[in-house]
Amino acid sequence: MADTWDTIADWYADHVDRGSAMHQFARAVLVDVLPMDMSGQRVLDLGCGEGLITRAAASRGAEVVGVDPTVRLIERARAIEATGATGATYRVDDGCTLATVADDWADWVTAGLSLNNVPDLNAAIASIRRALVPGGQLAFTVPHPCFEAPHARWVGAERVIGSYSTEGFWRSANPHGVRRAGNHHRMISHYLNALIAHDFTLTMVAEPLAHPLVIAEQPQRAALPPFLLVRASWSPG
Ligand SMILES: C[S@@+](CC[C@H](N)C(=O)[O-])C[C@H]1O[C@@H](n2cnc3c(N)ncnc32)[C@H](O)[C@@H]1O
Repeated sequence: MADTWDTIADWYADHVDRGSAMHQFARAVLVDVLPMDMSGQRVLDLGCGEGLITRAAASRGAEVVGVDPTVRLIERARAIEATGATGATYRVDDGCTLATVADDWADWVTAGLSLNNVPDLNAAIASIRRALVPGGQLAFTVPHPCFEAPHARWVGAERVIGSYSTEGFWRSANPHGVRRAGNHHRMISHYLNALIAHDFTLTMVAEPLAHPLVIAEQPQRAALPPFLLVRASWSPG
């Protein structure tokens, strides 16, 4: 049977909880574009997983809700919260609808490596816009679409790019990789045009090179940015 987020949830949460350099880097890349003091602000963390980004935002003083459709990951996030008490709360919800989130609720929406998992990006961006207050901001990362395209692979130290222009659902054959659960490949223009179509204004696009601790573990990653980072604000047109 093919893996899904339900079948890899404990594996993924264990992997993140062990504190891999790549996950610490992924968290820093996104959290670094948030204000240091988020007191009085509300943050919705879309596709929160076991709460890596959610806890970081809560520790800056924000009221944070993490949502994720994977029940087991929400259980893991709540279990961590029960021991650490950052004040974050968690709900099972789908990023395409955000049915548990009121209109005009969030000052910020964060989405760490999750929008590549939603099947309908247009629906997700529309739901994010609905959840944001006017002037609110979305900050997200996705695996870099150029270098993590379907079937991209290492051949020695060389990255062989897969099929960048073939958008859609694909599943990695790597039995140790997160994308064995499947994910949705989209070109960079697809992400940016979805934001523009929903009246977002880009405030940052970045392709950060890997942190030295990541390179120490994976030297071949030195020259290729692992993630695409986008921040955009929304105001009524
Ligand atoms: C790579 S994990 C990232 C989790 C977390 N943000 C982090 O940085 O560790 C991808 C997440 O996307 C979630 N996901 C899958 N389908 C989704 C959907 N339709 N809406 C929102 N999140 C979804 C998965 O359950 C998983 O938690």
